[in-house]
Amino acid sequence: MPAAPDRMKGVYDQYSGIYDRIFGPVFQHSREEVIRGLELAPGEQILEVGVGTGLCLPLYPRNGRVTGVDISQGMLRKALDRLEEHPLEHVNLLAMDAGRMSFQDDCFDLVIAAYVVTAVSDHRALMREMIRVCRPGGRLILLNHFRQDSRLVGAVERAISPLCKHVGFRTDLSVDDVVGEWPLRIVRDDRVKPLGMWHVVEGINEKASVETGKSTSGTRPETATRSMSGDGGSRG
Ligand SMILES: C[S@@+](CC[C@H](N)C(=O)[O-])C[C@H]1O[C@@H](n2cnc3c(N)ncnc32)[C@H](O)[C@@H]1O
Repeated sequence: MPAAPDRMKGVYDQYSGIYDRIFGPVFQHSREEVIRGLELAPGEQILEVGVGTGLCLPLYPRNGRVTGVDISQGMLRKALDRLEEHPLEHVNLLAMDAGRMSFQDDCFDLVIAAYVVTAVSDHRALMREMIRVCRPGGRLILLNHFRQDSRLVGAVERAISPLCKHVGFRTDLSVDDVVGEWPLRIVRDDRVKPLGMWHVVEGINEKASVETGKSTSGTRPETATRSMSGDGGSRG
């Protein structure tokens, strides 16, 4: 039976024409701070899930390989337009549900989600997949709003979350709700602009001790082709 269409796909398809104007400048400082501070080794394989219109793409160093995936064709179209204007040979884009990725296990050194964990229908599926495709000892980076510790602010964030879901994100998840159940050693949880209400959380993938359903039959990032259809282009 085919999988049910993801509601967020439609929401972000509708946003795609105006996304950069609304969510571009206000978060760009944090995108820059986080990506430019990654200290990537040459040749690292990087996966950006929920790459959107590609606002992060020009920020990655050119000595790594960057694969971006998104479920929304509308958002990806904008990212492809960006790459046509400013060619980035080290970047590859694929249409794919980040909760059911077609990549092999362990094939990325670093997996990043910028403003995505609270914008997906199923954050557990996203985290499970990010961990599966990241190699043991690799890094996961989450740049996101998380529910505040303050009881008052946290209560407001819980209250408005059902409304926010209609416009593409939720506000009720804490850092622990998202990372707590996974084999990650959290080495960083810093507040970033705007207003210090967003976090950058970095975890080291310690999955060696858990069974992730080892798969060697999916796509390898270096063999994937830039694709706007299907579940991720060619198989390796
Ligand atoms: C708030 S936007 C963030 C875009 C980009 N990372 C940025 O920094 O602006 C969330 C993105 O997640 C994507 N998304 C939502 N659910 C997804 C899923 N299941 N798989 C892949 N992408 C998804 C949306 O299409 C959208 O592009």
